[in-house]
Amino acid sequence: MNVFSLTDRVQLMLAADWNRRLFDALVPLPHGTSYNAYVVHGSHKTALLDTSDPRTLGDFMELLGTIPSVDYIIAHHAEQDHSGGLPRVLAKYPRAKVVASVKCKEMLLSLLDLPEERIMTVADGETLSLGDRTLEFIYTPWVHWPETMSTYLREEQILFSCDFFGSHLATNEPFAHDEALVMTEAKRYYAEIMMPFRVPIQKNLEKLAPYPIKMVAPSHGPVFDHPALIMDAYREWVSAPPKNEVVIPYISMHESTELMIARLVDALTKRGVPVKIFDLTVSDTGELAMALVDAATIVVGTPILLGGAHPLVAYACLLASVLKPKTQFAAIVSSYGWGAGAVERLPELISGLKLEMLPGVTCHGLPREKDLQAIDALAETIAAKHSANGLK
Ligand code: FEO
Repeated sequence: MNVFSLTDRVQLMLAADWNRRLFDALVPLPHGTSYNAYVVHGSHKTALLDTSDPRTLGDFMELLGTIPSVDYIIAHHAEQDHSGGLPRVLAKYPRAKVVASVKCKEMLLSLLDLPEERIMTVADGETLSLGDRTLEFIYTPWVHWPETMSTYLREEQILFSCDFFGSHLATNEPFAHDEALVMTEAKRYYAEIMMPFRVPIQKNLEKLAPYPIKMVAPSHGPVFDHPALIMDAYREWVSAPPKNEVVIPYISMHESTELMIARLVDALTKRGVPVKIFDLTVSDTGELAMALVDAATIVVGTPILLGGAHPLVAYACLLASVLKPKTQFAAIVSSYGWGAGAVERLPELISGLKLEMLPGVTCHGLPREKDLQAIDALAETIAAKHSANGLK
């Protein structure tokens, strides 16, 4: 756990969680994560922005020993990786008040059983003076829960955005200067956590547009001292049309489905359509989620197993459905031994995605020439659809 000075008045308290490999018991963390809290020192008052995850709370409390008084604890988000330290921090600073959005107060009371009289609510756009520093609270719902809020430090033009613009990346570097690494992990974070909320994120980006911002200071991963890097990336991920790309998650038990997928990759390659393929027995679901940020089409490959899709395929499809990517087209490629009836139910796998289903290809056992020609026809259809939609 380290403290870094971002400016004369703003400190970053960075807790790197190097060995964490799963978040929310769901999201893979190949590079760990970090929990950022910030301290803003005004001429009259001091504010602590967020706390730390219970996993790093011991070190966090030790570090708070260097901060003699705190008047306000800004709770941007009720999720425990940022709010989990509130009970101990409130005990340490008995005169401090928690500052939260109306919805966040309700959630903090529910999740942490905090004393209600210690929480004050602020409205969207309300300000709080620390003396010569002013905090402006901007409601930014659904990044990542409905209660989330950001804080704009007016005099320094710093946006404290909590999960918004974050990245799961354990590091002891305070700034996002290793751009390739940070942006890969920021995209993974967007794909796994933020993508379902594309519409509210678009509105939040519009809401932030009038603010001059010198730094974006999220609560996971490094601080952006060149904010266009992350804000432009978000604009593209959220709003730009999908790309001329096909994502192919698949399982093959005895190579039949694999032969069909290999033919599809070959046929798409000949037509100039880039592909990303994921053998779900070995793939990281985070990589699949990242690929779904951009791809215009998803083709799912599965054998029929016990009267339905392979369970790993079913899981990948459920994940894709809840992540709500910009994908426009989908198809299913499958091979069955004796369960031909189950094939008709396969489209249900991706019924949660609002897209155009293209005719799939199903074969009995090993794909024959006519099946492979049907795969070629599917590739032709995909290339034509992408071209008709002007996708690049
Ligand atoms: Fe970093 Fe949604 O908590």
